[in-house]
Amino acid sequence: MKAAAEELGYDSAEEYLMALHELHQNGQIHVPPKNAPAPDPETQRPQLYFERADGEIYHGDSAKLMADELGEESVDLIVTSPPFGLLKEKDYGNKDADAYLNWFDQFASGFRRVLKESGSLVIDIGGAWKRGRPVRSLYHFELLIRLCRAFDFKLAQEFYWWNPAKLPLPAEWVNIRRIRVRDSVNCLWWLSKTPYPKASNKRVLQPYKEDMTKLFERGSYNTGERSGGHKPGETSFLNEHGGAIPHNLISLANTSSNTAYHKYCREKNHPIHPARFPSGIPAFFIRMLTDKGDTVFDPFAGSCMTGEVAEQMGREWICCDLEEEYLEGALGRFLEDDDSLFPSYEPSRSKPYEAVPPFLSILPEDEAPLPEDGGASRPSN
Ligand SMILES: C[S@@+](CC[C@H](N)C(=O)[O-])C[C@H]1O[C@@H](n2cnc3c(N)ncnc32)[C@H](O)[C@@H]1O
Repeated sequence: MKAAAEELGYDSAEEYLMALHELHQNGQIHVPPKNAPAPDPETQRPQLYFERADGEIYHGDSAKLMADELGEESVDLIVTSPPFGLLKEKDYGNKDADAYLNWFDQFASGFRRVLKESGSLVIDIGGAWKRGRPVRSLYHFELLIRLCRAFDFKLAQEFYWWNPAKLPLPAEWVNIRRIRVRDSVNCLWWLSKTPYPKASNKRVLQPYKEDMTKLFERGSYNTGERSGGHKPGETSFLNEHGGAIPHNLISLANTSSNTAYHKYCREKNHPIHPARFPSGIPAFFIRMLTDKGDTVFDPFAGSCMTGEVAEQMGREWICCDLEEEYLEGALGRFLEDDDSLFPSYEPSRSKPYEAVPPFLSILPEDEAPLPEDGGASRPSN
């Protein structure tokens, strides 16, 4: 490990381990739990691991599951968060991103095979920093382009998930050298096989803001031209439509640590999955893009959050993960065969998070000079 650390420019094995830990915490690499069985993708078919009336969990490689087990055009929605690219610094090019894309191809063709024509594919994918440099990888954009160009998916819409509770990492660029800002947005690529997958934004309306509610009460609206040249019609904004159309920005912290799932994992000594997404992510897309009774599939299911939410929302579901230890913990979401365990889905927080406009005046400019070398050297204090 010492030699590997030195080769990559770290001063010690400890520093190397810390960097790995940081990536792991960030969900940018996947570290298999100790003693986890490693299914041989060549020989081992995914096994049905758990079943209940509306859901199935498979253990094994989901590429194989999609190629051999799931029916063609049998899934209405794939919503998933794949392991993020493990990116090593290279002298040139983007080899690791390429390796990631090549690895992903088997899943992309599986998605095409199992998804219905009316279905949608939603991929939650975080960005990544190149190792040792304040430079971002392009791999998640390249993945999107590959899915569209090589696998003929349509980009129905790109969403962004803003996690206001994300830590200011990597500390070196954000906290120490102060040359980058917090990276707190994940991309959510919503793709489909046709330009018209089944969808309705009426399923995900939000409460109107207070001024809008007042406007409805007043019954009048300034119909003058907006800054972009658009002139709203007299009536279109005045009609109460039951809620506001959401933006393609989902603001949701990912801080839950005391759910029944956590309790179960702690009691049974199973690892708590380190890169879970919050229930609101699958919930939003399940509601907007599927009907009750439709089938939702998560091929990188981890703790099976997608399965739990799909169950709560009355959809059928299939989850698959390579690591049995994660599935052992996931069972805590489903073991009780009691429907009270699955009350209808409720968001955990209804208050909005505050997003502030650019705020430029806290420190006078001359008290915050730009480093002459762009931050190439560390500040002395
Ligand atoms: C980012 S995590 C997903 C976490 C999940 N969204 C949750 O909320 O718990 C990615 C998962 O993909 C799994 N994985 C990696 N390769 C896989 C494969 N070929 N087939 C199935 N699962 C795989 C990993 O074991 C890991 O649990």
